[in-house]
Amino acid sequence: MYRSNTCGELRLSNVGSEVKLAGWVQKVRKMGGMTFVDLRDRYGITQIVFDEGKNADLTAQANHVGREWVIQVTGKVCERSNKNTQIPTGEIEIIADNMKVLSKSEVPPFTIEDNSDGGDDLRMQYRYLDLRRKPVLNNLVLRHNIAFETRRYLDSQGFLEVETPVLIKSTPEGARDFVVPSRMNQGQFYALPQSPQQFKQLLMVGGIDRYFQIVKCFRDEDLRADRQPEFTQIDCEMSYVEQEDVLQMFEGMIKHIFKYARGVEFTDSFPRLTWHECMKRFGSDKPDMRFGMEFVELKNVKEGGDDLVSGHSFTVFDGANFVVAICANGCASWTRKQLDQMTEFVKRPQVGAKGLVYIQMKEDGTIKSSVDKFYDEASLRKIADKANAKAGDLILILCGDDAMKVRSQMNTLRLEMGDRLELRDKNKFAPLWVIDFPLFEWNEEDQRFYAMHHPFTSPKLEDVQYLDSDPGRVRANAYDLAMNGVELGGGSVRIHDSELQNKMFQLLGFTQEKAQDQFGCLMTAFKYGAPPHAGLAFGLDRVVSMLAGLDSIRDCIAFPKNNSGRDTMMDCPSVIDDAQLEELCLKVDIKE
Ligand code: AMO
Repeated sequence: MYRSNTCGELRLSNVGSEVKLAGWVQKVRKMGGMTFVDLRDRYGITQIVFDEGKNADLTAQANHVGREWVIQVTGKVCERSNKNTQIPTGEIEIIADNMKVLSKSEVPPFTIEDNSDGGDDLRMQYRYLDLRRKPVLNNLVLRHNIAFETRRYLDSQGFLEVETPVLIKSTPEGARDFVVPSRMNQGQFYALPQSPQQFKQLLMVGGIDRYFQIVKCFRDEDLRADRQPEFTQIDCEMSYVEQEDVLQMFEGMIKHIFKYARGVEFTDSFPRLTWHECMKRFGSDKPDMRFGMEFVELKNVKEGGDDLVSGHSFTVFDGANFVVAICANGCASWTRKQLDQMTEFVKRPQVGAKGLVYIQMKEDGTIKSSVDKFYDEASLRKIADKANAKAGDLILILCGDDAMKVRSQMNTLRLEMGDRLELRDKNKFAPLWVIDFPLFEWNEEDQRFYAMHHPFTSPKLEDVQYLDSDPGRVRANAYDLAMNGVELGGGSVRIHDSELQNKMFQLLGFTQEKAQDQFGCLMTAFKYGAPPHAGLAFGLDRVVSMLAGLDSIRDCIAFPKNNSGRDTMMDCPSVIDDAQLEELCLKVDIKE
């Protein structure tokens, strides 16, 4: 046995015991005739003492070890005279009577401490060293606990974990597929699953009426802080259920995970908003509900309502179809510089607004705005009343022709204001079910409808009548769970009727042939008794990073890819040799 105890478990109650520890050398300090080694493993750090007066050879040996060497030490647990209250083992130390070097280490490329001096790239390249750091390790421990609690909850509810294949048929589901060439079927390819969507529906036809899987999914899409090319879903499906059953079941799961993996208890039911309300009030289908600053429409030509801004010779508002405001409490005293910064912010290409109008409701009761030339005080007060602004508040206004575009710009501004005003506390969790998504999404470029969720999502029964006449009006039995501005998961009630499914494919522009080629298996399966079913999938990485308060899901993945989709540690993707290409009948032809 290499060790009798870990470096994190010995306490005053162990004083007097003979122990054997093994771990990495965190630090060596020499003080007079004494050498102190901080020995570290996954569980903590224990101080080892080498006393020259008692054992000169051993101490000389200890003086030689360097950072990150792996050593084994035997000795006696003693009470420390100089206690360290910062660590759980800080009341004891081990007086060494033997030491063995198990493995030497080169000087590591960055310091392996909580606050490392290593930059992101370096730490990614040497991720196995980064994993020795407590903040990274803690994220993996939390991830384990969340996966464990997920299984515990779903098992208690009668769900069966079933593995589905990783080499599957390429059926684009929104993002691009990663494809894998087949040697035995030359010229043919597998795809890696974007999600096990069709398989879980086939499992319902197969009678596994409560399925789940903690499963790797693969999507070749542009990466962001909350997107990786390979990520993990908590994928679930149930038979004989309606939307309400699914929401209850998985609200229960999220509550269970938050409680048992992190001690966060939600006492109330999760609020629900329709997609339409979300867009109107927050300009996002995953609004951050930790703070208010709801949208106030000042003009909406398409949908009607009061117009509080036209007719004042301010051509920008006169000519716009849509004008919307938010009210930031207590910000009336913002300086010109701060306001200019916000204007620059909304004009950045990523936001895309042309400009920003502001109204300052001064503490002394006066009003100052960037459009004073056009609006008298009474008109500004009308706007302020509509925006519920009081003395001390700041109103920010954006406008444009396309309401959805302006809403999206205002959403970005609202989140930025939330950040600046520190309203987005990482220890506060604000869940929200977003329901009643539109079934279709119109694509201007292609001039056609796409499924907003996926083609297997069922329309709301009462909207089926509009499928042909007004597809854009049809709502879906689809739902997302948003939290703090992040989409944690989403799913839908599925179509289980082959006729309706055929109709969907037709509306989505699939020819009979193409639908048969891509989804033939599922359509055939539905001919043999398909139970009504529904499900959803959560992004495990997103759940973990939410609970850990991380800015990027990368930090809760043991071996993540960088923003260009590269694994810099293994150096991949990489070229394959000619023999491999030939065997697969592949030819690489890179156009410069
Ligand atoms: P959807 O595409 O919404 O639904 O994905 C479900 C959840 O998976 C997570 N997610 C991601 N996480 C990290 N990186 C990515 N690239 C990434 N893409 C998605 C999100 C998202 O909410 N088959 C359906 C589910 C269903 O209908 O049951 C599906 O995959 O948290």
